[in-house]
Amino acid sequence: MAHINESYLELSGSYLFAHINRRVAAFRSSHPDADIIRLGIGDVTRPLVPAVIRAMHAAVDEMASAATFRGYGPEQGYEFLQEAILDGDYRPRNVKLDADEIFISDGSKCDVANIQEIFSADVKIAIADPVYPVYLDSNIMAGRSRNIVFLPGSAGNDFLPQIPDEKVDLIYLCSPNNPTGSVLDRAALTRWVEYARENRAVILFDSAYSAYIRDETLPRSIYEIPGARDVAIEFKSFSKSASFTGVRCAYTVIPKELKGFDRNGNPHLLHTFWNRRQTTKFNGTSYIVQRAAEAACRGEGRIQNQAVIDYYMGNADIIRNGLEKAGYTVYGGKNAPYIWWKLPSGLDSMKFFDTLLETCQVVGTPGVGFGSCGEGYFRLTAFGDRERTREAVKRIVAAGL
Ligand code: MLT
Repeated sequence: MAHINESYLELSGSYLFAHINRRVAAFRSSHPDADIIRLGIGDVTRPLVPAVIRAMHAAVDEMASAATFRGYGPEQGYEFLQEAILDGDYRPRNVKLDADEIFISDGSKCDVANIQEIFSADVKIAIADPVYPVYLDSNIMAGRSRNIVFLPGSAGNDFLPQIPDEKVDLIYLCSPNNPTGSVLDRAALTRWVEYARENRAVILFDSAYSAYIRDETLPRSIYEIPGARDVAIEFKSFSKSASFTGVRCAYTVIPKELKGFDRNGNPHLLHTFWNRRQTTKFNGTSYIVQRAAEAACRGEGRIQNQAVIDYYMGNADIIRNGLEKAGYTVYGGKNAPYIWWKLPSGLDSMKFFDTLLETCQVVGTPGVGFGSCGEGYFRLTAFGDRERTREAVKRIVAAGL
């Protein structure tokens, strides 16, 4: 008999954004003329920048000639991209990494979900609440539903995860946080690195939104913190920094010092484990995509993408200022492309989703979808078109919800 993985029965019925999409589709079919503005899923809307398009075209041409055609590439990614990442993201911030500590992939969602495979089934895992739902769901799928320690975020602690009283083995940190937009500063991140060092824990640092940090004093990489190489894995993505949500490219950094431990306390290199996992289960990111990502890291491509990021942050200002002026309390949107809107007291965020859609034809994301501490909040994304974003704010303010 084909027994199922019963852990799947412990998951909520559908993945957050699949659920939202279904509700929007239902609304659209019953209101075919509605002019819906989508500020729900954090999907980019600006096109790929010219430098990236040029690099992709050139790579396609290489694939057309027997002399330059590429078949399977290294599972870990091409060195040209690893070097471009070092030049773009790390060397300017004095972070020293080796190129082969960077594993190129086709997305951070897969990486943050798959990384737990190299740890034991009984590790205790700390997960912020509210946060990107993939950390929790993927660990429930792996049978760890009873091993989770939630780190509650609230306006009182600036939505920043606090060190737990109990000992945990793995810690997911998302900074800038999705959905709240809060960012761990140097002091807070240092406390987490010290905690991990004292407890032989590993930090899984998701910084997919680091390109949106405008405050230069805030760390963009956990490796800016002394000692982090011994305790942290970092995830970054080209999705939001270079409009790659449909192109797919990301990377995971595993320093060669970083160790996990077997039952007898013997250390093992996590770099070796992840390399073994990737070479077995993954055949690398496409050459064309890696050439595109290389162009996003360097020179013109980097400058052009910065202009796109500035555009989205202009939208964030419009949403933030518009809602604040109308008397609402909002968080985030300063160093992140998400606005975390405190709903008028007592409003249920799932019900508010329907109210907003019906009244304003604006789609957002209910806070409770990111964890129980997200109840009473609502996330709006800054990744929309400028005029449509203005229009959404106008409708919301006029509706006076
Ligand atoms: C979000 O809306 O939270 C993100 O787009 C989801 C993702 O990056 O997978």
